[in-house]
Amino acid sequence: MIPYGRQTISEQDILSVQEILRSDWLTQGPAIENFENAVKEYCGAKYAVAICNATSALHLACRAIELGAGDILWTSPNTFVASANCALYCGATVDFVDIDPRTYNLCPIALAQKLEQAKQNNQLPKVVVVVHFAGQPCDMRAIKALAEQYHFLIIEDASHAIGASYLDAKIGSSVYSDMTIFSFHPVKIITTGEGGMVLTNHPTLHQKLKLLRSHGITRDPAQMTGHSEGDWYYQQIDLGYNYRMTDIQAALGCSQLHQIESFISRRREIVKKYNTELQSLPLMLPWQHQDGLSAWHLYVIQIKDSSKRQVVFKALRAAGINVNVHYIPVHTQPYYQQLGFKVGDFPQAEKYYQGAISLPLYFDLSDDQQMYVIEKLRASLQ
Ligand SMILES: Cc1ncc(COP(=O)(O)O)c(C=O)c1O
Repeated sequence: MIPYGRQTISEQDILSVQEILRSDWLTQGPAIENFENAVKEYCGAKYAVAICNATSALHLACRAIELGAGDILWTSPNTFVASANCALYCGATVDFVDIDPRTYNLCPIALAQKLEQAKQNNQLPKVVVVVHFAGQPCDMRAIKALAEQYHFLIIEDASHAIGASYLDAKIGSSVYSDMTIFSFHPVKIITTGEGGMVLTNHPTLHQKLKLLRSHGITRDPAQMTGHSEGDWYYQQIDLGYNYRMTDIQAALGCSQLHQIESFISRRREIVKKYNTELQSLPLMLPWQHQDGLSAWHLYVIQIKDSSKRQVVFKALRAAGINVNVHYIPVHTQPYYQQLGFKVGDFPQAEKYYQGAISLPLYFDLSDDQQMYVIEKLRASLQ
């Protein structure tokens, strides 16, 4: 089977993990801060907080801005369910903004129109979670301008996009947002097994994220009510969670981060070849906005005649190519239909989904394997 995505683990990665296993700290040790420092320096953000996965990181980000009952979060329907679920965990309401049919990212024009309407109905969102789909940055300048006009916060769900850049800044710098979230799941650009991170430039959000990651417990006398009773003493001052990453994961993450440029440049090579070899087929190939440089987590084609998607998908799977589909629009999930959403609500995301297939794209995909995928795809379209 050729998967659509998978991790690359080097000997150095294995040695880095072994070193932790032989050390005093499997969790809550120095490897966590090392990884946080490495990622924040790589991205150009002031603060980073390592979390056990991106789903929990999104939850903490929403808690850090005190999203709660009566608040509204908007996101893209073309995402993994976690980008929306984080609002529901906090008792807030979710709504969606349709996508740009060229980038498959949340459309700033649709956002502007929806904001104008929401203002009239007094239903403005507290936060908009933008998703850099497939690794391609959203139109952050336009979205940030709207945030200033309508006073909402921005969380970047950059689960696909570590290593991408937007204008002069790396994704993660959070220049255009309040916080950015990364995922380090094995199909992503770099991995820690399970893992996530929140980056921010706000010291107060940084403090809150750290507190909530570890049960809402502090050992800092300055944060306590009353006084510390001794070196053993701690206080729970908020309702937090155990959303910590282990040192084992953090050491792997650090080692993976050293390889990120070569990971991404190989992904770009593979993309270039797909673009060349597939251009004459009845497909829509990924379109790139000039302001961004994608990290290329996914290579998504759209079958122009979407009635053939099922046939093409089955033919590729039968040929041992484990293609996938990203994403079933979140508002069409049964759980979200129960909340009142229905098919037809976000037509661009639905139309895109009908024809979409994600082709294999990962560092270790060989030239021969890629040619095999291309030939099988070509044959399936005949
Ligand atoms: C856009 C997006 N957001 C959030 C997540 C959740 O990431 P994790 O698996 O690290 O919880 C994913 C995972 O696939 C994702 O693709």
